[in-house]
Amino acid sequence: MSAVAERVAPIPAGSTALPTVHDRHSRQEPPDLCTEAHVLVVGWSEDYLETLQAELENAGVLHVTVCRAETRAVEQIRGHLPDILLLEAGLAESRHAGLLQALMLETRLQNCPVIVVAQRRDLEQKRRCLEIGCFDFLVRPFEQIELVLRLQHTLDSCWYRDTLRMRDAQFEEAVRRRTEDLAQSRMEIVQCLARAAEFRDDVTGNHVVRVGKYVRIISRELGLSEAHAELLDQAAQLHDVGKIAIPDSILKKPGPLEPDQFDLMRKHTAFGKQVLCPFSAHEQEQIRSHTRLGNQVLSVRSSPLMMLAARIAQTHHERWDGTGYPLGLAGEDIPLEGRMTAVADVFDALSTERPYKPAIPRQRCFEIMEQGRATQFDPRVLDAFFRRSEDITRIQMQYMDDVPFFGQQEAQG
Ligand SMILES: [Fe+2]
Ligand SMILES: [Fe+2]
Repeated sequence: MSAVAERVAPIPAGSTALPTVHDRHSRQEPPDLCTEAHVLVVGWSEDYLETLQAELENAGVLHVTVCRAETRAVEQIRGHLPDILLLEAGLAESRHAGLLQALMLETRLQNCPVIVVAQRRDLEQKRRCLEIGCFDFLVRPFEQIELVLRLQHTLDSCWYRDTLRMRDAQFEEAVRRRTEDLAQSRMEIVQCLARAAEFRDDVTGNHVVRVGKYVRIISRELGLSEAHAELLDQAAQLHDVGKIAIPDSILKKPGPLEPDQFDLMRKHTAFGKQVLCPFSAHEQEQIRSHTRLGNQVLSVRSSPLMMLAARIAQTHHERWDGTGYPLGLAGEDIPLEGRMTAVADVFDALSTERPYKPAIPRQRCFEIMEQGRATQFDPRVLDAFFRRSEDITRIQMQYMDDVPFFGQQEAQG
């Protein structure tokens, strides 16, 4: 048995990456068959090996190695991966098929193109070889130029295939990183905006964080997906963003508000929607039809997160019995995200200390929440909230308010 020659490129021990033509020839173009490619000829007969080797060398192919096909042929090929493998067909059909299958199933060898060289025309054999994954099927007699061109075409095809795969993988990785960056910066902007609004009204800004996490827990209990719950967590943090538009004289007024002041305070829901979704459908259409810039502006605003946040900002003070504001929606006409945020928001307001009231003990909070069943709150949402009360409590403890900021003890809740 001929040994595999040293000049065939060895694969580094312990290498896990799939070697490709591209890996072995780090060039800007495919390797040249005659001067660069390593061609391995595997066959069962010395005559076959010698003939093909002579044909290749006469054609100017410099790096040709021959190997008798025996049981350890796959191991030898695996250890010295060529650029092209020429395999003898037809002499031992069953062993031939076994070797072919072993080659095609061997992950490490799947990038190595196999060309079967047959002594006679056999369409059935050709079909089987191509079906199993052989790159090409050559039948004698053939001209030297045909042999050379088909081998060079094979090298070219594999090189371009590998290049495309490599660029595709690089592109996917770049997109994945950009997407992660985008999601991270979006989350940070949402949190900044939510906290900026809440700092005007709340001493620590943790209220919005807790409400977001309560809504996430409730939504999971109601069967929503983890991805949707994540979006709700962020969107719910913006529920009171409309308070940005409420004057300090009202927002921070000690004591009860006058009716007209209370009316304005209630408008934080509409302001919130306007902040997050500043154009009506009609306005959107007008802007779209006028300018390209308008389209760009609207494409940002139309993200699922912002649309969800706008619905929450608008509906988190609606009540199940229809007596809430600003729209007076009732029952399931209130978007589910608004109903969930209503439960989370009220529980957090009750259970935390505010400048105008002490924190209410947790158990008492639950009792007060229960009193709002089917009047203020959706019973199904309230049940989900109670079923997950342990997790709610854990979040409450984890994100407990600490040191008051900005001396806002006079703030109006
Ligand atoms: Fe609110
Ligand atoms: Fe709130």
